[in-house]
Amino acid sequence: MSQQFRSVVRGVGKYVPENEVTNVELSKTIDTSDAWISERSGIRARRIAPRGMTTSFLAVEASKKALDDAGVSAKEIDLVIAATLSPDYFFPGIGSLLQHKLGMNPVGAFDIRQQCSGFVHGLAMADAFIRSGQARKILFCCAEIQTTIMDMTTRGRNMAVLFGDGAASIVLEGIPIASDAERPRADNTVRGVIDNITGGDGGGAENLVMRAPGTSSPDFINAADIEEGRRWPHMDGQTVFKNAIMRMTEVAETLLTRNGLKPADVSLMVPHQANLRISEMVRDKLGLPPEKVFNNIHKYGNTTAATVPLCLAEAVEEGRLKQGDLLLTVAFGAGFTWGANLVRW
Ligand code: UT7
Repeated sequence: MSQQFRSVVRGVGKYVPENEVTNVELSKTIDTSDAWISERSGIRARRIAPRGMTTSFLAVEASKKALDDAGVSAKEIDLVIAATLSPDYFFPGIGSLLQHKLGMNPVGAFDIRQQCSGFVHGLAMADAFIRSGQARKILFCCAEIQTTIMDMTTRGRNMAVLFGDGAASIVLEGIPIASDAERPRADNTVRGVIDNITGGDGGGAENLVMRAPGTSSPDFINAADIEEGRRWPHMDGQTVFKNAIMRMTEVAETLLTRNGLKPADVSLMVPHQANLRISEMVRDKLGLPPEKVFNNIHKYGNTTAATVPLCLAEAVEEGRLKQGDLLLTVAFGAGFTWGANLVRW
């Protein structure tokens, strides 16, 4: 049998722009209110990157911290995975920029476009690369600057008030497995990724979509796309809301059940941060107490791919996620896409 590996998270790092904009400040330029935003979503503030700051800049800063935390040099990384829906360029992706800016060897570097499911899908992919022996040290970065792709006026208020900018990275290491007892499982204490589920239903694509630029426009992007608002994201909030609760609950239950676990066995659940009401409804359906769920949406809003690793970085800082804990991450986003990961931290 060929050598097998387990994927261990060695380090985490986050970076958010300094500029914090509260709901009250936002309501000076958008016809909204602190009450509307906080009651419906739990959001109180978000970070907004200064004009000209790029997504790869945030990605580099978060990744430097993750590498430091892991005690791993950029030259040791043999694969880069980046998750973003707001890259510096339409192409190439930020993975390539990150590889170059961090002075890495000429290793593979790719972007995934899984939107709010970016972390849960990307972790499943990183784990697959490590298990198969194709990579030993992976830098996985989730980064977004969304405030430049949103319509930050009253016309776009149903989305503009929910999203924010930020980045977080993790470093994963493949550890050789000498025997079956060294494989991470729900019923032992071996560190590493235990199991992942990725799901999707493209039938939901039109409910959360940014149509231009893209080949759905005859010119990829033209003046009419801009004038008629197709260059702004569109969201049917209530449809997304209902699907998010249903899919996140379902995928978490499936992942736990197939590993012989009950929600109570989990040390910490980190749900995607789209709306505090979504997180709380998923938590209630799973029957988890508030102290077993980590949320930071009140500070950052929805940073899309970056929400889950931003929570992980802060949960570690706050001592709420410790080595040996059983971590459940779960997310839902545009596509529709969803997924979950079970990790012995
Ligand atoms: O990350 C994955 C993607 N995103 C999500 O998971 C988000 C899922 N959806 C949601 O979280 C919620 O649907 C929202 C927070 C987006 C909206 O909450 P809602 O209770 O579904 O509100 P609504 O869209 O039904 O809008 C209610 C009212 C409307 O006015 P009328 O038609 O009742 O007169 C909107 O025009 O609120 C109005 N509205 C606002 N008012 C003040 C919409 N946006 C705003 C705003 N400020 N920012």
